[in-house]
Amino acid sequence: MQDITVKTATVQSVIHCGAGAFESYAHRLKERQLFIVTDSTVNKLYSHLLNSVFGESTPKFVIAAGEKSKNTRNLLAILQKMLESGMHRNCCVVAFGGGVVGDIAGLAAALYMRGVHLVQIPTTLLAQVDSSVGGKTAVDMDGVKNVIGTFYQPEEVIADPRFLSTLPKREIRCGLGEIIKHGLLNAEIFKKLKENEKRLTNLEFLEEVVYSNIAHKAKVVTEDEKETNGLRKTLNLGHTTGHALELLYGKLSHGEYVLIGTYYELQIARKYGICGGQYAKDVEKLICKVLKKVPSFDGIERAADLAVHDKKNDSELISVIVPKCEGECAEIKLNKEDYKQYLRQISDNLRG
Ligand SMILES: NC(=O)c1ccc[n+]([C@@H]2O[C@H](COP(=O)([O-])OP(=O)(O)OC[C@H]3O[C@@H](n4cnc5c(N)ncnc54)[C@H](O)[C@@H]3O)[C@@H](O)[C@H]2O)c1
Repeated sequence: MQDITVKTATVQSVIHCGAGAFESYAHRLKERQLFIVTDSTVNKLYSHLLNSVFGESTPKFVIAAGEKSKNTRNLLAILQKMLESGMHRNCCVVAFGGGVVGDIAGLAAALYMRGVHLVQIPTTLLAQVDSSVGGKTAVDMDGVKNVIGTFYQPEEVIADPRFLSTLPKREIRCGLGEIIKHGLLNAEIFKKLKENEKRLTNLEFLEEVVYSNIAHKAKVVTEDEKETNGLRKTLNLGHTTGHALELLYGKLSHGEYVLIGTYYELQIARKYGICGGQYAKDVEKLICKVLKKVPSFDGIERAADLAVHDKKNDSELISVIVPKCEGECAEIKLNKEDYKQYLRQISDNLRG
């Protein structure tokens, strides 16, 4: 078990990472006034554990599992229940679940009485390696992803890979999407992924990579908490296209769309001559290992209309972060028509 620290201008978050972290650190939280947020699936699997550690009388809000729950209605319902439960300014919100729970509970913690304590206990691979670290909180509104949100750092994150043992294979694949993204930004992570291509979904291997992924994200957030110097923007690799496809089609999960987005953006980088040779082949192989089949989409050019409204763009141009060479990425700014054409071509090529 190891601790990683995120230090920003205003707070210092400690991430307890490793098998057994929950057992070692969760019981200390009992000393505070707690409010738990979780989802229906996680609650079914772990309510017994939560009751035994925090006590049955600890107030808890359970949202329905899935992205659709990340909405303003649930956000207000959480705040209402916090008020009804008599939560005071010193209370602590415990987000126990995947990225959906982490994002909405984090936002509720930021808003209640202008901000109360927050502890993230991520239970999916994606939440452990990515969403629980860095303080981005949000809900979706009117089909726009993460449009209402704020930066709000958790005081503590308890990332215990033991929770991954109940996670369906598909959710493991979703987490691998963000892990591969980190691999394209960090040569050491990429090397580990390449060397372990045959056991990417193996729990022992995942335990190893959770730590290096959190360490990478923690370093980026420490250096650029609010995406002001460009470093944190690199974490959006795969996301411009991924988010747009997620909004447009919505059948797969966030992590799967990120991985598909990474594949499409790799092909754009190839067309621009930014990424190529053996490295581009290795990246593609890794993505295909996890996705099995990269889908083509009917009407994919409509994704460009959504990508243009992405929060990452500061003009009418679409910002795409693409892989360049081991551990390095580049930003391309595309006009809408070019981006449409690339997406269409790549999708057509996949149809064969
Ligand atoms: N804040 C950030 O920086 C950030 C970064 C990346 C993604 N996100 C957000 O995270 C969300 C995706 O997160 P996610 O992939 O964790 O999705 P999720 O929270 O919907 O979890 C996926 C599924 O796994 C189930 N689950 C959770 N833990 C489990 C466990 N231990 N065993 C069995 N089932 C379990 C959940 O009930 C759910 O059905 C998206 O909304 C995305 O926008 C946020």
